Amino acid sequence: MIITIDGPAGSGKSTTARKLAARLGIPYLDTGAMYRVVTLAALEDGVDLRDEAALTALAERTDWDLDCGPTHTRVTLRGRDVTEAIRSMRVNDHTRFIAGSPGVRRVLIARQRAIGARLASMVTEGRDQGTAAFPDADAKYFVDAAPEKRAERRLHDLRADGEDVTYEQVLANLLERDRTDAGRPVAPLVVPPGAVRIDTTHLSIGEVLDRIVADLERRGLLTPAARTEP
Ligand code: C5P
Repeated sequence: MIITIDGPAGSGKSTTARKLAARLGIPYLDTGAMYRVVTLAALEDGVDLRDEAALTALAERTDWDLDCGPTHTRVTLRGRDVTEAIRSMRVNDHTRFIAGSPGVRRVLIARQRAIGARLASMVTEGRDQGTAAFPDADAKYFVDAAPEKRAERRLHDLRADGEDVTYEQVLANLLERDRTDAGRPVAPLVVPPGAVRIDTTHLSIGEVLDRIVADLERRGLLTPAARTEP
């Protein structure tokens, strides 16, 4: 069973996807981490971020990996743990070049599908999971929230990671990423056909999760054990 959760930054999709996966006892795939680790590799190697061929080759050949545990995603780049380094504002500010590269997207989507085929069941989260990556997913969700609320959530996470940023900087970065994610010619962020939309502005993660679980139940996709919180 493949469940996709798409939505913009700070919509709550990562936490929702992680908790849903834990509830269902299946793995969770954070595809944003893939775009982030390729961004970090490009910055470290000084690759020209507008050089499509160089970016595609980087995504194909660089030794990076995602360890999708039940409650965490550990990311390595050339054998080094970069789980925290990929969340920095510097990486945030440059992901749009990587996400806008058709070649990189092709490489990463192929990897996502290979992981899906190997795992058979997973919750996968990103911007294009219900559209480009898994158009035939068993269930699709699109989560969104007001930009101010999303910026508040991002600020909280970044400060918890020790980043020295202001609310205004986070909001500006988020609006810029919204603009480029929705407006790019390749794989723009859209509500996938057949997706259930959830506005999380006034909902707690628990409430979002309850809605998804109720929807999965309605479709007969839940095993009895997953109906109750572990
Ligand atoms: O979800 P997260 O904020 O970690 O994603 C980082 C960036 O990667 C996003 O701003 C977006 O540009 C890109 N991304 C994407 N497609 C995905 C996941 C992430 O374009 N499936």
